[in-house]
Amino acid sequence: MIPFIDLKAQQNLIRNKIEERIKAVLDHGQYILGPEVKELEKKLSIYTGAKYVLCCSSGTDALLLALLGLKLKAGEGVIVPAFSFASSAEVMPLLGAIPIFIDIENETFNLDPSKLADAFKTATEMGIKVKGIMSVGLFGQPADMKPINEFAKNNNLWVLDDAAQSFGGKYYGNNVGNLCEVSATSFFPAKPLGCYGDGGAIFTNDPEIYQIANSSHVHGMGKNRYEYDRIGMNARISTIQAAILLEKLEIFPSELRKRQDVANNYNKHLNDLKLDIKLPLIKNKCVSSWAQYTIILPENIDRSELQEELKSKGIPTAIYYPIPLNEHEPYKNFPISKSGLANTNYLARNVLSLPMHPYLTEDDIINISKNIHEAFKIIKNN
Ligand SMILES: Cc1ncc(COP(=O)(O)O)c(C=O)c1O
Repeated sequence: MIPFIDLKAQQNLIRNKIEERIKAVLDHGQYILGPEVKELEKKLSIYTGAKYVLCCSSGTDALLLALLGLKLKAGEGVIVPAFSFASSAEVMPLLGAIPIFIDIENETFNLDPSKLADAFKTATEMGIKVKGIMSVGLFGQPADMKPINEFAKNNNLWVLDDAAQSFGGKYYGNNVGNLCEVSATSFFPAKPLGCYGDGGAIFTNDPEIYQIANSSHVHGMGKNRYEYDRIGMNARISTIQAAILLEKLEIFPSELRKRQDVANNYNKHLNDLKLDIKLPLIKNKCVSSWAQYTIILPENIDRSELQEELKSKGIPTAIYYPIPLNEHEPYKNFPISKSGLANTNYLARNVLSLPMHPYLTEDDIINISKNIHEAFKIIKNN
């Protein structure tokens, strides 16, 4: 069986260093907000170019802390793609705010900036005060931030980038984490930069956003530990996870290059098959962190049958995401942009993610491609 994501191969490379880092935490005993947390925040600030970095308990909490930092209030609206993981939209209703669902581009899976005006108008006509846009760098490719930022500026909105999957990517040479007012990422183990538990971070150049998020992640703490400035939460990262991330960050650039090689190999070998599948398109201005390698199947191929065929050959696949967010029960009453969600609906039916991690060999990819070819023949003959 080829692993969908191979965390073991990475661990084998750096196990000793990780053990040393964990031992250092066991020795100093500062399990909460220990020195490794500050060290990690400093290194992430250098890596991204963002002035302020706050590590926290998960990618979802990072989004929530960012929204608190942006002072989003109950009843206000945020435009967000309907094709994403639940976290991108769930953090608004948690604050009493309203997600306004917008469609994505067909080739990149990311928010379609040409539909922003329509989403904004839809919400405004419903009497909702739109305050911001959440871009999502789905599968590793950053969203088209220039037109998104321009639209935001012209309409007095902020932009929060959900970079849970795209951390490590670039846009016009600039690192994800420093492309708009505030960005959030996840260190969930399967993410391009993952720890061995839950973790996340926010990135900003705005001291006020940082200060509010920092206070909020420790119960709304004020100048002193038991003096509160606001209602907050407990959203700290554990020191052990920060220690693990420090070692993983060391090999992150080389792992990103390896992911790019894997994607190049997929492109080459899948293209050679001359099948009617669409391969992921990365725009010239973008570098992807390749969190996922996701293909688009033709409508005449039964996706579940293909998955079964591949599984029987030891090749796992996944569907991110089978159901648009707006169709889930808790989200059904939130507004959808008037121009609709045609691409979202089409892609939810036809996407398929293949195994993706830095340690996939070209032979693995030849094997996966060959089996996709075989499976297509079997399914078409049925
Ligand atoms: C697009 C997106 N946003 C947010 C998150 C939330 O991250 P976490 O699982 O760390 O809360 C994820 C992670 O799965 C994600 O894929």
